[in-house]
Amino acid sequence: MTTLQMVRKEPAAPGLDVERIRADFPILRLQVNGKPLVYLDNAASSQMPQQVIDRLVRYQTTQHANINRAVHALSEISTNEYEQARRKLQHFIHAREEREVIFTSGTTDAINLVMHGYGRKFIGPGDEIILTTMEHHSNIVPWQMLAEEKGATIRVVPINDAGELVIDDYEKLFNERTKFVSVMHVSNALGTINPVKQMIAFAHARGVPVLVDGAQAVPHMQVDVQDLDCDFYAFSGHKLCGPTGIGILYGKAALLERMQPFKGGGDMILSVTFEKTTYNTIPHKFEAGTPPIAAAIGLGAAVDYLSAIGMDAIADHELGLLNYATAQLSRVPGVRIIGTAKNKAAVLSFTVDGVHPHDIGTLLNQEGVAVRTGHHCAQPVMQRYKLPATSRASFAFYNTLAEVDALIAGIRSVQKVFS
Ligand code: ALA
Repeated sequence: MTTLQMVRKEPAAPGLDVERIRADFPILRLQVNGKPLVYLDNAASSQMPQQVIDRLVRYQTTQHANINRAVHALSEISTNEYEQARRKLQHFIHAREEREVIFTSGTTDAINLVMHGYGRKFIGPGDEIILTTMEHHSNIVPWQMLAEEKGATIRVVPINDAGELVIDDYEKLFNERTKFVSVMHVSNALGTINPVKQMIAFAHARGVPVLVDGAQAVPHMQVDVQDLDCDFYAFSGHKLCGPTGIGILYGKAALLERMQPFKGGGDMILSVTFEKTTYNTIPHKFEAGTPPIAAAIGLGAAVDYLSAIGMDAIADHELGLLNYATAQLSRVPGVRIIGTAKNKAAVLSFTVDGVHPHDIGTLLNQEGVAVRTGHHCAQPVMQRYKLPATSRASFAFYNTLAEVDALIAGIRSVQKVFS
């Protein structure tokens, strides 16, 4: 107990003023079941600071019109703001060119875009696609659909007991039929940070392009797509303090230009006759119809907010939370942590002997503590560990050590109820 109090007095990361940051998030002032909200479901969706909410209000109250369609003042303003948001996202992930940043509705939409736009054009019968055991369903199912349509084969990289990819086995999967690799940067179910830069270099040496699902990485660390040298990188706005319904597909311009559009409609064309349609240039070729303009502008404000705090400071703080939570949880008898990779982001999945994860989630909720329970849209991970489900606490930069204590206290109370 003394040790615990001593640890709590240490700031997780000197320089990150968490109390000031928390003041930016109105939702964190809520009470749930009469208790202060302890929001530990950030891997599912993060919360939105007032700065982003205010930006959405300003857009809706003074700037809204459709983009790229008219010469009137509001249309010009909204078009400029939308393209400005694209440039903000470009700088945030360090893409070489703004036309390499495509607005999608989220990570799932971005991966489906690559499956349709690249996969259906360049992957054929007998070709092989490499995925990993830890992928989210959104990075499995689209490729299965493609494999079924084209007569291609999915090959799967195994994971070890700690939840790390077995890189030797990854390398052994390559052969002359390997045409594509799609891998997550950070596991939503295990927290593992994968060595994607090394995996990309290995694939490129064999002429194979790589998509990285960065949904759980971009909110927690500085991502540099040029440094990674990935061909595609997908992520969502709502896990990044932005709105729902918006996400990003980064793609190297040379690849995007060779791809076919995923969706047909307005704005993705240069000319249309019933005989022939000529597609627009990138990124517009992939943004058919009216896009989520407000959400894109809101996401631009979100990355401004995160950049002002600093992604390195965010990563340091979250690592402090993860280390503290891991140490505390390890001391609770009957608790097993699922995902003990050496290199982890702030995701803590666990089981409690004799208690179903859904009961853990329900009882924690009575204490105001929000965690996710279930298979986390990663059923192959659950199969690997022979588990139906886990409970998962996932941290953000606005979480505190005191909130970790509330989680641990909640788990101990759950154990008392079931003892
Ligand atoms: N993929 C999100 C999660 O892990 C929804 O919770």
